[in-house]
Amino acid sequence: MSIKNSTLKTFLPYGKQTIDQDDVDAVVNVLTSDYLTQGPMIGQFEDAFKETVGAKFAVAVSNGTAALQLSLLALGIGPGDEVITTPNSFLATSNSILYVGATPVFVDIELDQFGIDPEKIEAAITTNTKAIIPVHFAGFPVNLEKIQQIAKKHNLKVIEDSCHALGASYRKSLIGSCNYSDCSTFSFHPVKHIATGEGGMITTNSSDMYQKLLMLRTHGVTKDSNQLTQNPGPWYYEMQTLGFNYRMTDIQAALGCSQLKKLDGFVTRRREIAKQYDLAFSGSDLIKPIKEQVHHWCSYHLYVVQIDFERIGKTRSDVMHQLKEKGVGTQVHYIPIVDQPYYIDHVKVNGNFDHCRTYYKQALSLPMFPLMDDGDVEIVVNAIKEICK
Ligand SMILES: Cc1ncc(COP(=O)(O)O)c(C=O)c1O
Repeated sequence: MSIKNSTLKTFLPYGKQTIDQDDVDAVVNVLTSDYLTQGPMIGQFEDAFKETVGAKFAVAVSNGTAALQLSLLALGIGPGDEVITTPNSFLATSNSILYVGATPVFVDIELDQFGIDPEKIEAAITTNTKAIIPVHFAGFPVNLEKIQQIAKKHNLKVIEDSCHALGASYRKSLIGSCNYSDCSTFSFHPVKHIATGEGGMITTNSSDMYQKLLMLRTHGVTKDSNQLTQNPGPWYYEMQTLGFNYRMTDIQAALGCSQLKKLDGFVTRRREIAKQYDLAFSGSDLIKPIKEQVHHWCSYHLYVVQIDFERIGKTRSDVMHQLKEKGVGTQVHYIPIVDQPYYIDHVKVNGNFDHCRTYYKQALSLPMFPLMDDGDVEIVVNAIKEICK
C-alpha cells in the first residue's frame, strides 16, 4: 500500500517518489543492522539491478552525476579530449565532461525525437573526439544502433545517459543492457523511476571497466589480491589511481532493492498515465504531446507537451502560475545547456541549436508519477485545457 501523503491531495508536483511500507521496513532494517555503509546491501542492489536491465556488471554510486563522471574517467577521457553530447539535458550531463577536464561538444537534437541528432554527429567529430554521451530524453531511447555505428567507425566510446530511461526498451532489450554502448548511467533522485534519495548506478559489460569503476568510487583504492603490487598482510590496501568517495550507503541501497521490485508496476502506471494524457490532448493544436503512442517502449520519466503560447496569448510563466493556482505543478525540461551563462562564458560552443531552442520555447512538463490516479490526471487535463484555450 503506497503512502500518499497529504500534500498530494492539494497539489500535484511534476514528479514524485512512491514509497510503501516495504520500503520503510527495508530502510529500518538497515538502520538497526551492523552496516550503514559498505555493507551487504550495495552488492544486493547491484546484483538485482544488473539482472533487471540485463547487463554483466553494475556499480552503485552516490548519484547520477557521479555515475557520468566515473564513466568518463574509467574510459580514460580527460584534458584535451572532446565529448559529443546533447544540449537538451540536465546540466549534469555536460558538467561531468567538464569535471574530467574534457570539452563538451554539443550537437543539436532531432526535432521530433528530442535526443541528439545522429545525422549531425559526424560533422562534430575531430581528432580530439573520444566519446559520445546521448541522453534518452524523457524516457525515449535514442537511435542507439546508428550512434554505435558512428562510434565504431571513429573509434569512440559511447556512454548512455539513461537517467530518464530506467524501464525503457530499445530493440527488445532494456536500457542499461549496454548492447550498443560501453556503459549506461542512472539516477535515483526521487523524481526518477525508482528513488533512493540521492543515488546512481553504472552498468557495463566490460570487466575491465567494472574493476576501474570500483576503484574510482572509493579513492582509487583496492584490496583485491589480484590487483595489489604486494600483499604483506590482511590490513594492506593500495591506492592505484586518484579516485573519490562516491559510494552509496546501505540505507540507500536497501531502499533501492525494495523500489526495484516495483519497477514494472511503476513503469506500467507511467505508461497508463501517458495514454490518458495522449487521448485527452489528441486533436488539440494548442497542446501537443511531444510524442504520442509510444507507450510500449518509453518509460515516461517526463510527460512533456508543447504549447503554442503565442496563439493562446499567454506567456509560459502565466500558464505555470495559473496551473499552480489550480494545484498543478509543472516544470521546463530543459533550458538549452548552450544558453547557460557559464557555458556561454567558459565553453567554446559552436553550432546551430535551432531545434533545441524551438523545442524549449514551447515545452512544459506535466505531472507524471505512479501515485497519480485517473482523477489526478483528469484534474491536470481540465486545468490545462481551461487555461490554454
Ligand atoms: C539526464 C540526466 N543526467 C544526469 C542527471 C544527474 O543525476 P543526479 O541528480 O542523480 O546526480 C540527471 C538528474 O536529473 C538527469 O536528468
